[in-house]
Formats: sequence, structure tokens, C-alpha cells
Amino acid sequence: MTTTSPITLDLQKAAKEHLWMHFTRMGGYATADVPIIVRGEGCYLEDSNGKRYLDALAGLFSVNIGYSFGDEIGQAALDQMRELPFYTNWSYAHPRAIELAAEIASLAPGDLNRVFFVNGGSEAVEAAWKLAREYYLARGGRAAPAAVAEPETRHDERVAAMQTHPRKYKAIARHIAYHGTTMGALSINGIPSIKMPFEPLVPEVRHVSNTNRYHRPPDETEEEFTRFLLDELELTILSMGPETICLIHMEPVQNAGGCFTPPQGYWRGVREICDRYDILLSADEVITAFGRLGHWFGSERYDIRPDLVTIAKGLSSSYAAIGGVVATERVMEPFLGETSMFSHGITFGGHPVMCAIALKNIEIMKREGIVEHVRANEQRFHDTLAQLLDIPIVGDLRGTGYFWALELVKDKETRETFSDEECERLLRGFLSNALFEAGMICRADDRGDPVIQISPPLVAGQAEFDEITGILGEVLTEASTLMR
Ligand SMILES: Cc1ncc(COP(=O)(O)O)c(C=O)c1O
Repeated sequence: MTTTSPITLDLQKAAKEHLWMHFTRMGGYATADVPIIVRGEGCYLEDSNGKRYLDALAGLFSVNIGYSFGDEIGQAALDQMRELPFYTNWSYAHPRAIELAAEIASLAPGDLNRVFFVNGGSEAVEAAWKLAREYYLARGGRAAPAAVAEPETRHDERVAAMQTHPRKYKAIARHIAYHGTTMGALSINGIPSIKMPFEPLVPEVRHVSNTNRYHRPPDETEEEFTRFLLDELELTILSMGPETICLIHMEPVQNAGGCFTPPQGYWRGVREICDRYDILLSADEVITAFGRLGHWFGSERYDIRPDLVTIAKGLSSSYAAIGGVVATERVMEPFLGETSMFSHGITFGGHPVMCAIALKNIEIMKREGIVEHVRANEQRFHDTLAQLLDIPIVGDLRGTGYFWALELVKDKETRETFSDEECERLLRGFLSNALFEAGMICRADDRGDPVIQISPPLVAGQAEFDEITGILGEVLTEASTLMR
């Protein structure tokens, strides 16, 4: 890595005076320096002081191919800039959006063949909920008299359809799940602390239990746990009124709370419940798609058979701001009528340069065998991290693929968690800084119980697994002493 080139602007000063960082306690930088990352290579980043960090979070669970493909991807972006820097997907198409949609359809399981592009994960979740709402309207509306071309008459027909068919508009998600920050996506979120400042949110979403097994009764079998989760989901649907629910939105492996994998039979049961009550199943694959779980889609790994899939991050390995909703032919079908449409659009959705970048990313992933690399190495990654289970505060290691979490506990025997005040002292008071100081970026998170989240670029190998485990070992051992 080369060192930072001289800069005319005082970046530190300008950052403090002008840049409003996301989910950041800006007051914390009144005395401390803003960390400024200036370049990346492979799994490593470098800050403005020339210090190197192992990025064990892949940006935000998203730089799947790592940081070294800038030349190749940059060339694809430049070529596209020269050919067609922008055109829209509103009533028109252009080659890159078409090619990318076809590529995604070829990688997605089953008949998830239709792709609606947006700019990121929150917009994808937002679009999925809107799509589910309008799907039932469009499907119900089909029973109405033949459509007429006049827009006003169409509007009247829609109103009539809304009156004669019960509106399906509600959604169900899981506790502690993160699904983004726009108002719709935020409403689907299951994290009270980030919702509360913006209430009232979009009605009506209910949350059911996630698949966190660590705090379940110790003698409960996996089968009993699955039964508990499915019974709760079904009872929730019945209490909300199945005829009013359009969407169940869940991640194949839930990130927030720390990599909750599904118990045996869970997804088959959720799919059956969705079919029984005629509700669309949406898999939020903003993190899990494009290799993170060792498959192109997490839905494939767990045979989820969703009706909708939301994607973003890994689609371009974050070299571009692009996301999408992938829908099955069944979901598309009512929108194929001569006068029906999904009443949604975003100027930059399917931007040609973003699509060119995503296409190049997928080409690189295939050429480099990145998805196969994750599958071949996931067990080794697990086994290396498992050495950390000897540390007194490390209670659990869970996850799959290149997507792992360590849960930190006060008492390993009883699995007692830390109090809010202790979490503050442990995570923000010590761990985040100590890990960064030690040259590693990963997430110390307490949106649920306190966890360390490890999710490096998918090009990482044994050397990186060892380095991650070594740094975590030292820092967590020190944390154990501190919290004694
Ligand atoms: C599962 C999931 N859904 C949605 C989002 C929102 O994505 P974005 O930050 O691109 O809006 C995220 C972001 O981390 C996510 O993890």
C-alpha cells in the first residue's frame, strides 16, 4: 500500500465542521479525531495517518470481493459513462439494466425472474412492501370489469376494487431485525431504539420472535423451538386478520442480534403459513445474497422459496449504490395486464453506470470462484473463531458462511447478559476503540444482546481468520478482566 498523498484541505477539520456522519454521536468527535479511511486493498483499509486495518466487516457487510478490483470495475464504469451515462427505467429500458436483470434472474433460485431496481437496501425493503400491497390490489382488481384506458376511470376502478376486496396492507417482521431507515423500512424494523424518535411510523407492522436459540430454555429441542416460532407466527397472523396482511419480511439469517440461523423446518413452516393465509413471503437478502452464506442467495441455502427478495450491498460489492427487489412470476402476473402497473419509481433506479458496475462485480465473483471459496472455507473460519469460546465473556459463536457473531455474556453458566450500563462500558467504552486501536474493524453491537459481528470480504482466507481471531482474543481477554 502506498502512503496517503498530500492534501490541501485539512480533512480532519473539515470533517468536524461539515460532515454529518450516519448513526454517529457527533459530539464524540469534539475532542477525538474522526477516523478517515483513505484507501483499501484486499481485506485491508488504510487511514489518513497511514495505519492499516483488517476490515472484518467488509464495509457494512457488503464489500464482498474486497477492495482490490477498482481498476477493472472503474474501467466498466468509464466505458458505460462514455456510452450512456444515464438513462431511466421509467417506461424505457437500456442494455445494462436488462443484462443485469437477466443475470440476477439466472442466479436467483426458482422463478424469481423479475427485477425492479432501486438504490440500496432501505429502498428495496420499502419497494417490497409497496409491491406486496399493490400486488393484492392488482390481483383483486382483476376481478373488476374490464379495464378502460382513461386514467380517471382506472382510478375509479381501483377505488372500487379497494372497497370490494379487503385491503391487504399489513406486514410482519421479527424482533431486533434491521431492515433500513426510510419510513416504511424503519416501520418494518424490529429495533425499538432507532424507531422511537420517528414515531408514529407506518401502520401496521407486528413483530414476532427471531430465531435466537441461545436464550431459549436449555432442554428445549430444535423441533420444539421451531414449533414455538411457527405457532407464534400463526397466532399473530390470526390476531391481525390474515385478510389484512400482505407481507412477511425476514432475513434468511438475521444480522441484528448476531447471526441468528434458522432451526430445522423453520422456513418450510413459514412458507406453508404464507401459502395457507395468502401472504407474500419476502426474504431480506440485502446482506445474505451474493455469496455471504456461500450461495448466490441465502434463500437457496435454506430452500426458503420466497415470493420477493430484497437485494443491495453485495450486488455490486458496494462499488455502486444499487439494490433491487426480485419477484417471482406469480407476483409479476397481475402487473402484466394491459393497464396495470407497479405505481412506484425512483430516478436513479437501474442507473446504467451502477448496473455496469454490478455486472462487472458478478463477472469477477464468478471468475474468481468467490461463492465456492466461501463454501470451501466456512468450516475453517468457524473452527478458528471457536478458539475464542475459551474466553470468560464469550458465550456463543453462531452464524454460517462468512457471517459470524460472538455473543458476550456476564456469566457463561447462566447465560446472563450485561446490563445496559455494563454494555455501554464494555462496547462503547472499551471494545470499539480497543479493536480499532489493535488494527481491526468489526462491529461491537448491542441492538439485541451484546455481540461482536464478523463478516469480512469473501476473499479472506486462513491468514485473515487467524489475524481476526488473534486480535479478538487479545482484546476480549482484556475486556473479560475489565468486566470482572
Ligand atoms: C437486512 C438489511 N435490510 C436492509 C438494509 C438497509 O440497507 P441500506 O443501508 O442500503 O439502506 C440493511 C442494511 O444494513 C440490512 O442489513
